[in-house]
Parts: sequence; structure tokens; C-alpha cells
Amino acid sequence: MSASGAEVLRSEEEARILVVDDEPEVVALLADSLRQANPSWCVETETDPQRALERLAVEDFDCLITDLVMSPVGGLRLAREARSLDENLALIAITGRGTLENSIEAMRVGFADFLQKPFDLEETSQAISRTLRQRRQKEKRDLRFAELAQAKTRLQTEHAQLSQKLDIATHDLVLSSKRMARQMDELALGAHVATVLMGVIELEDLLGLCAELLGDRIHCRTGTVAPYETRENSVGLLVRAYPETDDPPALSWLRTPIDAGVMCRAAQTGKTIHVEDIEASSLLDSQERELWHDGRLLVVPISRQGLTVGLAVLHRLSHDEDFTANDTKHLMELAKIMAPAIQTAKLHHRQRCCIYASLETIAETVEDRNDYLKGHSVRVQAYAMRIATTLDLHQSQIGAVQIAARLHDIGHIVIPESAVNHPGPLSDEQWAIVRRHPDVGAAFLKPLDFFGEVGEIIRAHHESYDGTGYPHRKAGEEIPAAARVITAADAFDAMTSHRPYRGALGIEEAREQVRRLAGQQFDPRVAEVFLNIPAEALADVQAGNR
Ligand SMILES: [Fe+2]
Ligand SMILES: [Fe+2]
Repeated sequence: MSASGAEVLRSEEEARILVVDDEPEVVALLADSLRQANPSWCVETETDPQRALERLAVEDFDCLITDLVMSPVGGLRLAREARSLDENLALIAITGRGTLENSIEAMRVGFADFLQKPFDLEETSQAISRTLRQRRQKEKRDLRFAELAQAKTRLQTEHAQLSQKLDIATHDLVLSSKRMARQMDELALGAHVATVLMGVIELEDLLGLCAELLGDRIHCRTGTVAPYETRENSVGLLVRAYPETDDPPALSWLRTPIDAGVMCRAAQTGKTIHVEDIEASSLLDSQERELWHDGRLLVVPISRQGLTVGLAVLHRLSHDEDFTANDTKHLMELAKIMAPAIQTAKLHHRQRCCIYASLETIAETVEDRNDYLKGHSVRVQAYAMRIATTLDLHQSQIGAVQIAARLHDIGHIVIPESAVNHPGPLSDEQWAIVRRHPDVGAAFLKPLDFFGEVGEIIRAHHESYDGTGYPHRKAGEEIPAAARVITAADAFDAMTSHRPYRGALGIEEAREQVRRLAGQQFDPRVAEVFLNIPAEALADVQAGNR
């Protein structure tokens, strides 16, 4: 019986026993004795060992009791072959004239007991019961072992499945962790960048920072940021960063605003535009083609509350790798961070422009009261800017010169009409009022702190380098550099303009005066730079603003 066959066990007492001996009397005697000893036993007999072997192959027996010495098949062979068919078959040997050698071999084959002829019935019955009990126990052990083996296999399968699930879960977890870390990093960057950007109020500074940010975060040849003017539907200012060089971002105020092209299309549609080949594309306008000759562009609108406030543009060369979906996503995220800062800075910038325009109007109105002064501040601004851009002044100082030159005489507003158009020399009292105009001009701008040092420049535009000027007799480096520039420009324009009490000097005569007064009224370095301006350029300024 096989281990699986043992699953259908008979009761403990029931058993099928095959008794084999080539002596019929022995077989019959033993079989009868066993049937009497235990009626639950089904005892079969066989005197032909070959026939017994055949029956063992097709029938189920619990116990084989066989003589060891038989012909033509011996008991040992019979037992070996029977065991090969049922490894749990209980084996009991009948020995009459058995030898020690036979006994040892029989034990190797698996015989559990030996019955000596003539049989003691009691002893024989006990031996069979004991052997059968051993067989049952072994079958139970085998069954238990088989169940354990099955359970082990099942556990191994479940373990393998769980391991696989665990591996997948771990993999997912690692990916999620990395993704989360990246998002945290981006969020931290976003928060950090947003804080920095919102701290920058000056539009130009902010745009420069944004352009540098693009180049730092996404590979490109240039990163460009441009505020978009929704009223004019145009781009008038661009800041370009060059991440592969040490050059600072370049700011360009466009003389002719770009009101068509790829940037305007992105701004108006609010959609990202990917230009794969600039040369082949029909989207760019002529000014954009001058900015980006060839290669590829990624243009993303910078939007805030549904309104396009600017544009972010990345440029790569043709042989660079093309922009990916990840680049687009990244650029859109950066644009989202920039949007509130740019919107705020634009608002501030616009307010300042409006205030500046109002002050310009006041300055012009004041100038217009006197025919001899018309166009004065515009010319002073032009001369001063020629000097300022040649001198090694900081960009912010050049900006201050530009504004201060235009507004430098706004304090004339306190000069009464009678003094403005006075035909002869002014009285002491009138001069006292005129000398107040630098302080009045400075007071005008004082509440407008975003004009920075412009007020102090205006206050100092009549000071002399040697300390003999007014209103505070400052000298040399005490006078702001921008004011020293305006002093030269202002004096040159006054010299070359008609007055009721004198004629205008020619350009060369006036230049001679500037040369003569260098180190006295004028800063020698400023005078030197001014005297290097070609006479034709000075004449052009005069001709354009009379
Ligand atoms: Fe003045
Ligand atoms: Fe002036």
C-alpha cells in the first residue's frame, strides 16, 4: 500500500494478511490460527511464491508472512519485491532452519519479526499485532509527513508569492520615496525661490534673477524672461541669461515692442509653444529671429489668475538634445513660481512709470513758462547719459542720472513768474528763491522712496567740485557722482542757450569753458569724458530738442 493509499485506513484491528509458505500444511495451520486469534484479520494464503508475488502486485495487503527458504522464489526476494511495491508493507519471517546469515539479511530487507516453527499461537498473534501496529504508526507518520510536506510546499509557494509582492511593494515604495523626495525638493525650492523673488521689487532685477533661475534649473543656451504688456499686447523688455558663461543677464528695452511672433502667440493663447526648428518655423517675427537665429525654443507663458504677465523662453542649439516633456513640466513649474513676483513688480513698475510721467509733465510745464528754457531738461538728460554711460558707473546710477537729469529743475516751480521772465539781472531776493530750487526739487521726490538717491542728486546739481556752489557748498566726492555728471551737462546746455541778457555760446566756446572750469565747477574726470563727446553728437542733441 502506498502512503497516499494509507489515507483510506481500515480500523486498527482490520488487516489483510498474506501467508506464503511452500508447505501447504504450515500455511493452513498458521492461517487458521491467525483467523481464530483475531477475526478482524483477513488472512489469505499462497504456497507458490511466484503467484504470491503476482498477487502482491495487484492486491492490497497490510502484512506479508513468508517463509524465507522457498523455491523458485525465496522469501527474501519475495519480500524485497513486495516492499518495492509497498514500502510500508509489514514483513514477518517464518523460520524453521534459518541461519544467522539469513536473519541479518532479513532485517536489512525490513522484516520486523521472526516466527519459529513450530508456532506458539499466542506469541505469533502478538508478533503480528505488534508489526501491524508499527505499520499503522509508520503509515500515520508518512501521512503526517506527506501533509507536512504539502504544507511546506504550500508555504514555500505562498512565501515566494509574498516575497514577490514584497519586492514589488518595496520597489514601489522606493520609487514613491524618491518621487516624494523630489517633490519635497521642488516644493522647498519653490518656496525658497518664491521668497527670494517676492523680495525683489525692482522689475529689472527680478527679471534678471528669473532668467538666471531658468538657466540654473534647465539646460539651455539662453534663458529669457520678458514681461508681457496685456494693454499693448506686446513685449517691450527682455532679460536674457547665458548659463554657460559668467556674463550677467542682459537687459534689453526694445525700441519697437514685439507685437507679433511666438512670444505673443504663447501669451495670447496661454499655451506652451515648442519650436523644433527656428529657421523652418513661421512663428517667429523678425525681431525674434535676431534674438534666436537657429536651434529650438520652448516658450511658456507666465500666467497669474488667468492673465499672462510674462514669458519664459528657453533656447537650445540644433545639435543639443530636444526639449522633453519633463523640461516643459519643469519650465511651467518655474513659471508658476515667478508669476506672482513678476505681477507685483510690474504693478510697482507701472505705478512708478505713471508717477515719473506726471513729474515729467510738471517739469515740462515749469520749463514752458520760459521760452529760453524749453527742451532744457531733455537736452541735459541726453548729454548726461552720454557721460554716464562712458564713465564706470553702476547700472543703477546710470538709471538715476536718467531720471534726475530730466527732473533736476522741477524745483523751479517755486520761482515766481516775475522772476522767470525777468528782463534783467535778478534781485537778491529773487536769487535767494532761485537758489532754493535744488532743495525744493529734492523735497518733491522725498516721499517717493523708490526714486532712491535721485532726490539727493537733484539737491546737489548746482554744487561745484571746488565747494563754491549752492545750496550746501559741498565739494568733491561729497557730491554724488550722478550729480557731478548732471552739473556738467546742465552748465553746457545753459552756456549754449540764449538768455534775455546774453547770447548763446557756440559748442566749441562752451567746451572751452568746460575745460577751463574742470576741477573748479566740474569734476575733472566728468569734464574729460564730456570733452571727448564729438561736437557733432552735441550738435545733434541741440538740433533735436530746441
Ligand atoms: Fe537747476
Ligand atoms: Fe538746469
